Amino acid sequence: MPDNLPRRQVLRTAGALGLGAAAVGALQTGADAVGTPDKVAAMDAHHGHGRLVIRKDPFGTTPDGQAVDVYTFSNGRITISMLTWGATIQRVETPDRRGHTKNISLGFDNLPDYAALSPYFGATVGRYGNRIAKGQFSIDGNHYQIPVNNGENALHGGTIGFDKKVWKAKVVETSSAVGVAFTYVSPDGEMGFPGELTSRVTYTLDRHDNLRIDYHVTVAGKPTVQNLTNHVYFNLAGEGSGTIEGHVLQLNAAKYTPVDAGLIPTGELAPVAGTPFDFTRPTPIGARIRDDHPQLVIGRGYDHNFVLGKPDSHGMRFAARFWEPEHGRTVTVHTTQPGAQFYSGNFLDGTIQGIGHKSYRQGDAFAFETQHFPDSPNQPNFPSTVLRPGETFTSTTIYTFGTK
Ligand code: BGC
Repeated sequence: MPDNLPRRQVLRTAGALGLGAAAVGALQTGADAVGTPDKVAAMDAHHGHGRLVIRKDPFGTTPDGQAVDVYTFSNGRITISMLTWGATIQRVETPDRRGHTKNISLGFDNLPDYAALSPYFGATVGRYGNRIAKGQFSIDGNHYQIPVNNGENALHGGTIGFDKKVWKAKVVETSSAVGVAFTYVSPDGEMGFPGELTSRVTYTLDRHDNLRIDYHVTVAGKPTVQNLTNHVYFNLAGEGSGTIEGHVLQLNAAKYTPVDAGLIPTGELAPVAGTPFDFTRPTPIGARIRDDHPQLVIGRGYDHNFVLGKPDSHGMRFAARFWEPEHGRTVTVHTTQPGAQFYSGNFLDGTIQGIGHKSYRQGDAFAFETQHFPDSPNQPNFPSTVLRPGETFTSTTIYTFGTK
């Protein structure tokens, strides 16, 4: 489906017409609904209390002939598009404080660009998000080698990670949320990892502007390591609108994991106090990014795992809040995960043009990847990422979109 089409209108129309689950199901087949402008206006007047709707459209075909679909779901205020390619968030449309809606997520409008160019834009990454030193680790005395793809290290699951797989998709609709459950079964030995890994990652949007991501992971045959995350890049002023250095960040972390020259953690949990890594009070991302701090030089900015504060009684912790002062959009992140990689888009270099046909330059977006710590398979003092047959790993991350 082209980018500038009446898709949102179709979605709004579906809500305004008060279509039930069966009719929305018809939308999932790709059949466009046609509505009258006054019905659309009536939906607009609800200011986000419209019906939850979802539809499915073809997006492309991989070179080996697999069909890729785009699912678009909305609560009438926030509209999210996701691809079965990499279980990828393609677009996130949210209103600013004046009600002007823009796409705030970096991405492409076509599959070949995702396959050839994407630095994990919006993707569900796995089997192991972030780095494993030299791509090597052992479990129970058995040694494994992942193909390296980031200097001498393995990044985001090796050369062909979960971001480059076509996931199975199933629509999820409840009375309070709508979205898609994506499933991918990674065979034993894929990218060198042991055990057949079944990952189900469910993305749902509710009426309160929460995008919730639930991870459910099991392994068969052999123990393995796993660390799935989502790699959405945001610019809260709008994708392609320039630097995020003016975004204000509050990050609930008293410690972070410093890295060596290859961005592998040294094993230390270092206090942020008194350093440019202290975002415990809201601070513009750019305020200290040029400070003479060795860790900022290694990362060319922020590209570090933060050790998040303690969870509440439900296991959730406030992780971070980003705020773009000019247009007022906010995104707040809660998670059950112990860490998050805060990446200030340092390796974007102007060579990629995204969905809005603008070049993405250094610092034009941030990613905040909730996760276990990088290189945990080789770091005995970090929380373990080993998953054994019979065990189930679950985690939840919630991005809440708002304005201030
Ligand atoms: C890594 C960065 C990398 C980016 C895109 C982040 O998770 O930490 O070093 O450039 O992903 O691949």
